[in-house]
Amino acid sequence: MRTKTFLAKTFLAKTVLGCLLAACLGTGAALADDQAPIIIKFSHVVAADTPKGKGAEMFKKLAEERTHGRVKVEVYPNSQLYKDKEEIEALQLGAVQMLAPSLAKFGPLGVREFEVFDLPYIFPNTQVLRAVTDGPIGASLLKKLESKGILGLAYWDNGFKIMSANRPLIKPEDLHGLKMRIQSSKVLDAEMRQLGALPQVMAFSEVYQGLQTGVVDGTENPPSNMYTQRMHEVQKYATLTNHGYLGYAVIVNKQFWDGLPADIRAELESAMKDATVYTNQIAQKENDDALAAMKASGKTQFHQPTPAEMEAWRQAMLPVHKQMENRVGKDLIQSIYKVAEKYGFKY
Ligand code: LMR
Repeated sequence: MRTKTFLAKTFLAKTVLGCLLAACLGTGAALADDQAPIIIKFSHVVAADTPKGKGAEMFKKLAEERTHGRVKVEVYPNSQLYKDKEEIEALQLGAVQMLAPSLAKFGPLGVREFEVFDLPYIFPNTQVLRAVTDGPIGASLLKKLESKGILGLAYWDNGFKIMSANRPLIKPEDLHGLKMRIQSSKVLDAEMRQLGALPQVMAFSEVYQGLQTGVVDGTENPPSNMYTQRMHEVQKYATLTNHGYLGYAVIVNKQFWDGLPADIRAELESAMKDATVYTNQIAQKENDDALAAMKASGKTQFHQPTPAEMEAWRQAMLPVHKQMENRVGKDLIQSIYKVAEKYGFKY
């Protein structure tokens, strides 16, 4: 009997103690949760020392400062976490919260309209480009991402692409028969076919090796990407065609973003706004510096096309606009032409 009472008392004591402990731990956990920063994993595929890499770091700095540490931004450059295709899936699944894929990589997600940015020579200058991204066309394109669980926050520049290979590319015909690495865009596929080349989609992280081993012969990229991935070490020639634009949409997982406390979201939006201004201000210089560094290395020979050669490149690639009307939308292409015309440009 005494033993039974003793056991009952011990059990009761243990239970009370256990409950107290659990309550304490629970409170502690809740406290820790309240104090734990919100983590934003920002994954991207380029080097840290590029317009996008620097933009991501600037966003991190501003976001952490303005939220007084309530948000921590972890930037993962160089495909450390995910390659091109996987990163978009990871964002949709919530494994990362923020990305800035190039506009050429939204096609596989089912939003083909973004490929309008890949049309060769569609942007005569950055003024027209900016009027498109900052105006109603840019906004309506970002809106299209929402049905995919994605929110578009901003457009970031890299720059205009140049063609490279291991043979001189003086005129469009020089691309004939070359295997050219492209991003996953049907417009880029059409562009290369139009030039008589054989396009090959390849993840960005694999391009250097692809060029080195001869799986592909050449590629197109802005100088900043070419330089920071050391592609100039494995490409003997490049031509400054500036034929196509490469830029980014900074995107977030919509559910995550909508679920943020309103005051935090407002600070993050302001951080993104300022990081965008910064990125778009430095992008041109980053590319100029990268080109200068590659020229100085002497590994690649760069050709500046004469006005007549440039016109030949333009004429060779312009038919792609018509060919791709069904893919990206005739009205969308026309609306960009209209913006360009406002700035006095005729196609
Ligand atoms: C590429 O794959 O060539 C680019 O999209 C990489 C990048 O993000 O700039």
